[in-house]
Amino acid sequence: MGRRVRRRGGRDRGLSRTIDLFAAGELGDGEMRMAWVEGSSPVLVVNSGGRLHALQGTCSHEYFELDRGFLTAGTLTCPLHMSRFDLGDGEPLDPPAVMPLAVYDVRDVDGRVVIEVPDGPLEVNEEG
Ligand code: FES
Repeated sequence: MGRRVRRRGGRDRGLSRTIDLFAAGELGDGEMRMAWVEGSSPVLVVNSGGRLHALQGTCSHEYFELDRGFLTAGTLTCPLHMSRFDLGDGEPLDPPAVMPLAVYDVRDVDGRVVIEVPDGPLEVNEEG
């Protein structure tokens, strides 16, 4: 009865790359915004109390774009089946999701929101 789990991308590739997403001023406290890396890989950036978080933009449970979710006290809730995820480490806090959301290193560099990720495809966790 095990679920098939797929991880795309990975953290141990050695080289990394920095990706500029958008101007930091475009994301206020308590807001989230989807950025599409290379036009096809969604990254959700959240400003929670002035702290930035970047996570995979789709739910790990089923394909659902998480910019339609909602933020509560350091968590993101996927509205399709109501799993909550910790913004800090992406871990699911409620079923049905069991896989964490991939999280990416994110920071404000001279007023730009950038992520630093391993070379290659972005890591994305999906239950199959
Ligand atoms: S698609 Fe997000 S909890 Fe099911």
